[in-house]
Amino acid sequence: MCGIVGYIGPKDATPILIGGLKRLEYRGYDSAGVALIDRGALETRRAEGKIARLEGVLAEQPVKGHVGIGHTRWATHGPPSDRNAHPHLSTDNTVAVVHNGIIENADALRKELHRKGHTFRSDTDTEVLSHLIQELFEGSLEEAVIGALRVVEGTYGIAVVSSKDPGKIVGARKGSPLLVGVGDGQYFLASDASAILAHTREVIYLNEGDLAVITADGYRILDINASPIRRSVETIAWDLDAIERGGYEHFMLKEIFEQPQTVANTMRGRLRLEEGTSKLGGLNLSHDELMAIDNIVITACGTSWHSALIGELMIEDMARIPVEVEYASEFRYRNPIVTPATLCIVISQSGETADTLAAMREAKRHGARTLGLVNVVGSTIAREDDGGIYLHAGPEIGVASTKAFTSQVVALALFALKLARKRNLSVTRGREVTQALDLLPNQIQAILDQADAIEAIAESYKDVHNFLYLGRGYNFPAALEGALKLKEISYIHAEGYPAAEMKHGPIALIDEKMPVVFIAPHDSVFEKVVSNIQEVKARGGKTIVITSRDEPALAGLMDHEIRIPETVDMLTPVLASIPLQLLAYYIAVKRGANVDQPRNLAKSVTVE
Ligand code: F6R
Repeated sequence: MCGIVGYIGPKDATPILIGGLKRLEYRGYDSAGVALIDRGALETRRAEGKIARLEGVLAEQPVKGHVGIGHTRWATHGPPSDRNAHPHLSTDNTVAVVHNGIIENADALRKELHRKGHTFRSDTDTEVLSHLIQELFEGSLEEAVIGALRVVEGTYGIAVVSSKDPGKIVGARKGSPLLVGVGDGQYFLASDASAILAHTREVIYLNEGDLAVITADGYRILDINASPIRRSVETIAWDLDAIERGGYEHFMLKEIFEQPQTVANTMRGRLRLEEGTSKLGGLNLSHDELMAIDNIVITACGTSWHSALIGELMIEDMARIPVEVEYASEFRYRNPIVTPATLCIVISQSGETADTLAAMREAKRHGARTLGLVNVVGSTIAREDDGGIYLHAGPEIGVASTKAFTSQVVALALFALKLARKRNLSVTRGREVTQALDLLPNQIQAILDQADAIEAIAESYKDVHNFLYLGRGYNFPAALEGALKLKEISYIHAEGYPAAEMKHGPIALIDEKMPVVFIAPHDSVFEKVVSNIQEVKARGGKTIVITSRDEPALAGLMDHEIRIPETVDMLTPVLASIPLQLLAYYIAVKRGANVDQPRNLAKSVTVE
């Protein structure tokens, strides 16, 4: 949710920290700040709002130094304000801390520190850390940090500097990601590789419980007992282009338009066209283990939960294994029926969503095997699962998930296919799916080529207050996803429903002011959806129909038509989601909304 960056080296840290924070702004953007050691003294600059405001503050009160930390915040404790922006200082102004996560025993610690004479200057849970580190400091910053981390309960990714031990930055992670960047004579800390990619592609992903001490001469990784540990240096596979807008007005639009490529990347080397199956290298499941699975739980949040619903239908239809889909946030707090014969599939773009991670750990505690469908390489879920399928969709910066969703659905199709072909799916049916998968990139491109027509439809609906999205079968989850996209970036109230369920309540909402998006490709439930469109038209509703061929039954029922190519039923949501994403995008832009940084949202929800 929030972003951390730290720098130590021969250059001036300020522009490096600001550059890193701008790259991280998609993770949280209600306030930001930096702390630098400037000629032996600790200097902080903080500002409510976007990084641009912090730059304004720095222009008025410049600060320089070779050691510094920065933070961009998404508020949890205390409203967004200058005083709640990180870094937070100790009472004597010698320690500065930036923190992602939540300190759960902050209230108790605050009272105790207050009794000892510490003065608090913010409403945040984080601030207890800086006071605690001051309290425990006896000459070594890492030892004081270790002492503080022994006392705090909760989750953290932190970076700490102190004017009393000025030649280093100490970082630590538990429940919130942090990595060390290894540059040429310079070292970095960051919560996300994109913050430091302009300077180095060599990184060390810290494990849970690791501490890192970076100095101008190198780095050390320690455990909570201060014993040194070895961690390998990995090279990030993508480059700066992948995290830049590349001429598009927004990251979201760029990511929508990347989908022919990203979907192809998810399939690269994995499709076995002739055998009608897939090859998935990272599953870590033997033939016998795959055959022994007797039920599957898929757990995820938000958009990833929508792809899970599609995966459920695919797996049940093709592999005939019962599947339950659970919101990760609910799964972790109930008593789910999970046994060693359960496969728990965990879907997460970021691989860091707190609820999803906790659900995966819960499934493991029950003895289930876990399989992660994750986009971010090296993320916590990817490191803790028993096996996985990387999405290879590349960095997703727009807060609204687009390309990760289509890649998730494709990855689920590859997995369902593999499982089904191992069991009883015929090669003929398998080939139908592999051939359809193979066509997807070009089909997606054909839909993207209609972007102008979709933009024109958006113009007609930019001022409405409500939207309904209806679909059946595989396209009920697509309807949910279409509604989520619209509401999160345009702030228009939108609901997704199974089309036939409309009669049981939502139909009361239909009048000439209510646009209804129907997802009605020519699949096995097409005729049924046509009846539902008739019900809406009979009540004066406006219809936007996503369909796949000329169909007399639809004559006179469509106020607007969007054509998608034909494919097998199970892949129709991949194609249908492209116009849904574009529609949401254009409506939001026409309403003047900031689509890449919608209000109240942040990429990657690392708190509960
Ligand atoms: C919606 C969106 C969120 C995420 C959800 C899960 O556009 O992005 O609903 O899908 O927060 O995130 P991941 O997939 O990173 O676990």
